[in-house]
Amino acid sequence: MLSPNLSKALNKQIEHEGFSSQFYLAMASWAETQGLNGVAAFLFHHADEERMHMLKLIKFVNERGGHGVVPALKQPPTTFKSVKAVFEEILKHEINVTNTINQLVDQTLKEKDYTTHNFLQWYVSEQIEEEALARQIVDKLKLIGDDKGGLYFFDRDLETLAGQVEAKESGGKEGK
Ligand code: FEO
Repeated sequence: MLSPNLSKALNKQIEHEGFSSQFYLAMASWAETQGLNGVAAFLFHHADEERMHMLKLIKFVNERGGHGVVPALKQPPTTFKSVKAVFEEILKHEINVTNTINQLVDQTLKEKDYTTHNFLQWYVSEQIEEEALARQIVDKLKLIGDDKGGLYFFDRDLETLAGQVEAKESGGKEGK
């Protein structure tokens, strides 16, 4: 059974993951209007992943005797300065999410709730991957700079990457 405090904290995380999904969706939609179809495909897919992160938490809270509450929609930014600015925002955002997950893990240890602690390990690993990917992409964009040709190939690469991730997941990746 979840303590009221942990239940509240997990619901806060549900809100963060829900906002992440909206945020990625806003960036995806912006990218599509800029003709960056690969970047858009990657971000649309990521918006779905964030929704899944939220869903997983809702189900866990309910299973443990709490109530996973669906959060209100908050409007994310609608326009972005550049593709590089988008991925810099993503990196900053994911670092913040990692911090919120770490705080949750800390709380489970203080409360000796080892079931929730174990559940959160999936999010800990996921954050390592997400931060690393965002960093890698920001580095690539720094190399490209203002080179339009470079951006064209970058967009194509992200389209391929989005396709690969989707294929891997539809190949039966459990627990995602
Ligand atoms: Fe669900 Fe990108 O953190």
